[in-house]
Amino acid sequence: MRQITTREMQKLLSAPIFHEIGQTADESGLEVYLVGGYVRDLFLERPSKDIDCVVVQPQDPSQPSHEGMGTPVVAPGINLAKAIKKRLGRRAHLSVFKNFGTAQLKVESLKFKVETEIEFVGARRESYSHNSRKPIVEDGTLEDDLDRRDFTINALAVCLNSDRFGELIDRFDGLLDMEDRLIATPLDPDITFSDDPLRMMRCVRFATQLRFQIEEETQDALVRNAERIKIISQERIIDELNKIMLSPQPSIGFVELSRAGLLPLIFPELAAMEGVEVREGRAHKDNFYHTLEVLDNVARSSDNLWLRWAALLHDIGKPRSKRWEHGTGWTFKNHNYIGQKMVAPIFRRMKLPLDERLHYVEKLVGLHMRPIAIADDEVTDSAVRRLLFEAGEDIDDLMTLCEADITSKNAERKRTFLQNFQLVREKLADLQARDNYRTWTNPVAGEEIMETFGLAPCREVGVLKQLIKDAIWESRIPNTHEAARQYMLEQAQAMGLTPVEKQ
Ligand code: CTP
Repeated sequence: MRQITTREMQKLLSAPIFHEIGQTADESGLEVYLVGGYVRDLFLERPSKDIDCVVVQPQDPSQPSHEGMGTPVVAPGINLAKAIKKRLGRRAHLSVFKNFGTAQLKVESLKFKVETEIEFVGARRESYSHNSRKPIVEDGTLEDDLDRRDFTINALAVCLNSDRFGELIDRFDGLLDMEDRLIATPLDPDITFSDDPLRMMRCVRFATQLRFQIEEETQDALVRNAERIKIISQERIIDELNKIMLSPQPSIGFVELSRAGLLPLIFPELAAMEGVEVREGRAHKDNFYHTLEVLDNVARSSDNLWLRWAALLHDIGKPRSKRWEHGTGWTFKNHNYIGQKMVAPIFRRMKLPLDERLHYVEKLVGLHMRPIAIADDEVTDSAVRRLLFEAGEDIDDLMTLCEADITSKNAERKRTFLQNFQLVREKLADLQARDNYRTWTNPVAGEEIMETFGLAPCREVGVLKQLIKDAIWESRIPNTHEAARQYMLEQAQAMGLTPVEKQ
């Protein structure tokens, strides 16, 4: 992180919009503060998108307090946003969310180039009931507002009013925690997590994105409160999980989820992969940690979220396929097919998309053993052709996944596999150039077979088509109509079919 003096902060916030906000607040008798992720990311030198402002209506001692009245009586966030909109005219677009007491301004940009969203909300005091995420909201001071935030690094505020422009408020030593690379809650972590259990996912997510440690008491509270995650909607959970997946080293998040006891609750199939069983002195590898290694390997070479999901799920069928076989040891037969079938139910439950992205992950999980099997044996044309046909346009991603899957600690073995993979890749390129197998169609169509033998659609037509396909893919006949037709006639004869006379 970097140190920022008030003078430097003023420079960082030199875009005219910050001054417009501060001056408008001055004129309206309000206090306004930048808060949350935007301030955090200034110190961490991370790009950040949205800007959050908290607006405080200074208490008038002659007025009764609004305490206990449930909803904000004044909505200083909305009032300030409206006043700024008036000032900026067509340079800003205003949306008001009355029920939430918030307003959003879209301005062309801080420097008036790209669009930026600025959210305004009145300072709040919140209290929560045990069974719901819905808090009872009341007007509050800046201190109340910062107290109810999730982590110390997210509880920083910077004043935008003219006389205090750039002044930092750091009630909970958020800067120190940033320096120590720690995620900690401002208040008692049991209260922070119990108030809003989504914060447990956010805690793990920030630890992963920022590579911060979770502070000890916060960690203990995660374990104590893990069960409360059940009141959070799956949509919000998956949002956080996908942010973990898209981090540079997603394994950090899954290790933390496991340590917190959250993993079995949100992802039991993955939790089932943890652990090693030993029989007759033989242990299988820990499939959870192997999976995480594969996931990190993929993450190093691709930021495709769905390829990362395929990596996470590639061995998900292993616990269900695990057997102990005398003489052989541990086996995981067909774990790729078992795993492939598990993908759709997992996607459905987790509220992941059920469209072509699901089919892509299913396909990669189902096929992930194939290049290894080919590379383990002699790399033949026909095996590579088949692979190419089944993987289609996802062949490169499949190869990336399979290379990532070689986590053997035996350097010699690893090198042999990677060399063979290189051979598979060369063969793939060669075949693609020669036959364009991704878009291969049988040179003899079903109609031609039916016409030749006077058949209605029936099993024999399918059998003949398959025989022709196999012969071409196994390089027994060339990929031409003439050769395929000749082969069809020979095979049909062996099946007892005779061509009908042409009229
Ligand atoms: N916040 C909170 N509890 C939550 C969600 C948010 O206390 N469950 C507070 C935090 O202070 C946070 C701010 O609201 O910094 C804004 O939340 P959000 O935009 O969701 O997150 P950011 O911290 O901005 O981070 P990111 O954009 O990476 O999600």
